[in-house]
Amino acid sequence: MKFDAIKFDRRSLLKSGLAASVASQLACDKGTEAAAPLTPGDLSSARADFPRSTNGVYMNHASQHPVSLQTARVMQRYADYLANDCTRAEWYELSEEAKTFANARKNEVKQLFGKLINAKPEEVAFCLSTTVGENIVANGMGIQELRGNVVTNDLHYSSCLYNYKVRQAQGLDVRIVKHKDWQLDPADFEKVVDGNTKLVALTLVSNVNGLLAPVKEIAEIADRNGAYVYADIIQACGAVPIDVKAMGIDFASCSTYKWLMGLRGFAYLYVREDLQGTVVKPTEFGGGVGFNYRPWVETPDPTKDEITYNSKTGASRYEVGNVSSVGAVCQYEALNFIERVGVDAIQAHATPLTDYLQEEMPKIGYASITPKGNRSPITTFRVPDPKEAERRLKQANIEVTLRFGNQMRVAVSVMNNQQDVEALVKALA
Ligand SMILES: Cc1ncc(COP(=O)(O)O)c(C=O)c1O
Repeated sequence: MKFDAIKFDRRSLLKSGLAASVASQLACDKGTEAAAPLTPGDLSSARADFPRSTNGVYMNHASQHPVSLQTARVMQRYADYLANDCTRAEWYELSEEAKTFANARKNEVKQLFGKLINAKPEEVAFCLSTTVGENIVANGMGIQELRGNVVTNDLHYSSCLYNYKVRQAQGLDVRIVKHKDWQLDPADFEKVVDGNTKLVALTLVSNVNGLLAPVKEIAEIADRNGAYVYADIIQACGAVPIDVKAMGIDFASCSTYKWLMGLRGFAYLYVREDLQGTVVKPTEFGGGVGFNYRPWVETPDPTKDEITYNSKTGASRYEVGNVSSVGAVCQYEALNFIERVGVDAIQAHATPLTDYLQEEMPKIGYASITPKGNRSPITTFRVPDPKEAERRLKQANIEVTLRFGNQMRVAVSVMNNQQDVEALVKALA
């Protein structure tokens, strides 16, 4: 039975040439993982770990990061578990693997993510997406009813701005700082943040031009005025070092499908411990109750209520319903990979590649809208002839993001190398 399930998967994967190579690697040995970097900073096996690197040049990681071979294998084994074992019964004789999949490593994942941003596991909740995380914060603060203002900026993610525009239409005072030459100037925040500001919301690394926001300076302004800081960290987490405490971030959220090398529909929300349940109240509820009356129990306890429940503690109070187990097991693989390599090394790997692009792209007519010396893996350029650029990229089998009419976003990750960025410049020159 188990092998039937795997064969079926493989047959559908075999439809494309690339899939054939991935499928054969996936199928070769179910038990052993591909060679993973064991020493911090070692990215020598990254191209082998990410089979997407064998199918042309992929530098669209800011849209969706491919998963590693190890993660793909875990997904396949999880599918196998669901198809063949699918049990959570404790009295059943469970294999070690079935036990792992039954709890989906959720506790370990919260710990690993917490370590990545310098938070306690109790400060981390699972949620569905980055945008959901920000909504949990805004709703939990009762931002509308507080009668204060929210300060954000035009490099905050578009869907988040939508969130505040809708609230503005409902009466919230929303102040949107505009970027200056694609950078955020803390002095512009100083002008609009005041004693009535409840929340300053920003994106730590911009999806538009990769700008690493001066969050510490902005957070200091917020703090002086008694406001809290929310950071959208989806384009930062896993790519640049984050220390929420040192950066003055009170709340943060990110999905796992970008620099955390995972899936859609599985995300994290960080809420500073002392603000849980007080500044940010849960607005949706889900948990468990106990019954203390017949026929639920034979001998009810007279000292207890008929229906009892224990309030959830920590950031789990913001979780409602079951979260994606496959999302969690994939994260266990990916976060271990990121931890083994180290975010510093991941950032250091991207730096010469982005520096090269910053140097060479303007020479061929692609002006940069990313500040020089910016330390994120994303650089964005103005495209002189978008149709022609698209044609050349297709011909050279290079994938980057072309959008907003005249912008090209290049997002490099662990599996990219100098040849990749040179190939881009050559294709466009
Ligand atoms: C900066 C930023 N924030 C949020 C999102 C959307 O995230 P989610 O789908 O997790 O809500 C994206 C997606 O591209 C993004 O780039």
